[in-house]
Amino acid sequence: MRMESGTKIPAHVAIIMDGNGRWAAAQGKPRSWGHAQGMESIRACIEVAKDAGVGYLTFYTFSTENWGRPESEVSALMDLLCEGIEKETPELARQGVRMVVIGSRGALSDKVRAHIEAIERETAAGDALTVVLAVNYSSRSEITRAAQRIAARALTGDLAPVMVTEQALSDELYTAGIPDPDLLIRTGGEQRLSNFLLWQAAYAELLFSPVMWPDFGEKEFCEALAEYARRERRFGKIDN
Ligand code: FPP
Repeated sequence: MRMESGTKIPAHVAIIMDGNGRWAAAQGKPRSWGHAQGMESIRACIEVAKDAGVGYLTFYTFSTENWGRPESEVSALMDLLCEGIEKETPELARQGVRMVVIGSRGALSDKVRAHIEAIERETAAGDALTVVLAVNYSSRSEITRAAQRIAARALTGDLAPVMVTEQALSDELYTAGIPDPDLLIRTGGEQRLSNFLLWQAAYAELLFSPVMWPDFGEKEFCEALAEYARRERRFGKIDN
């Protein structure tokens, strides 16, 4: 499925991939099987985003709150992340996809950190699409951390209060240098942001899809882009 030419394409799409567990349970399978199938949806969305000319694609891969899941599920997710990185890095690098990871790395294992550093290093030259993985990410922690960094600079006299602008705060977020998302998609039927990109999504178009993440493929992502284009075309206009 291709996007129509002339369609307005978002510069940045952010995705909350929800519904893996329910999708697996509905088929009598373990939740981790749903996460593994979810990898296929990630691959499909990267493919479409690259072809459509989306500049940035962000996936909510593991939230700070996800540590509260059973140990077996957390380790299955971390293994999947490492395996996915090992398996996909050469092809992503070949396709010019740059991978960037946001979130707090302190609590991650040495193995996961090493994989994250490797994929960032090996894809750093990519200029076709930037894929951002949010790993151990919490938007409130991110904003708090930014405030702490600004306070530290103020203490040293590097920054006067009047210089604490929206831009100054944005520059201290993990996403510094990445444009704000134009479109934020959440699959799986829930309609909330779950501590994801709260600052950055201030003006994002929100799209809540009932489709479970493992079923969200090329067709569904293209439809989401088309929905975004329709909304943008109405922006500021009066219906006749
Ligand atoms: C939400 O479904 C999904 C996640 C918490 C994890 C998504 C992660 C992946 C698909 C793999 C990531 C790997 C790489 C390399 C990016 P859920 O478990 O909350 O589903 P539920 O709401 O049905 O319980």
